[in-house]
Amino acid sequence: MTRQSYEEDGEYLALVEDILDHPVFRSMEQYIQHGTTTCREHCIQVSYLAYRICKERGWDCRAAARGGLLHDLFLYDWHAPVRVRGHRFHGFTHPAVAARNAEAYFSITRRERTVILRHMWPLTPIPPSTMAGMAVVWADKVCGLRETGATVRAIIAAVFGRRPAF
Ligand SMILES: [Fe+2]
Ligand SMILES: [Fe+2]
Repeated sequence: MTRQSYEEDGEYLALVEDILDHPVFRSMEQYIQHGTTTCREHCIQVSYLAYRICKERGWDCRAAARGGLLHDLFLYDWHAPVRVRGHRFHGFTHPAVAARNAEAYFSITRRERTVILRHMWPLTPIPPSTMAGMAVVWADKVCGLRETGATVRAIIAAVFGRRPAF
């Protein structure tokens, strides 16, 4: 798969621009997801990767694009102490919070809601029911590892004075 920017992909933008332009979606820029990547940026990367996987294979790329964009719409800083964010077990609970927020602020289909609800599989027990859902699960893991890896490389570079070869 060639590297391409989502901003230059008119077909993708047409499916998601109502979400990208929305102030609630934009507000995710204030929260860090992994390393130095914000929740907004993470959701865009997951959405676009899942979209392209589905598009290439003839799967539901609209559900992948929209579900992927909203999959982490939990709207709080998950690194904050439990007493600040008010609950434990973010890993297990945030898909339901994101699905609730997605329904409150956006027009989403049942299928897109299910993509959001099941994106943490296999940490949460019910697997995705569609290939779009599987693509978002995969894209989320790939992007998460990439984002965390970038931080590890930056720390190694700061400590040892040069960037590691991986
Ligand atoms: Fe998530
Ligand atoms: Fe995620």
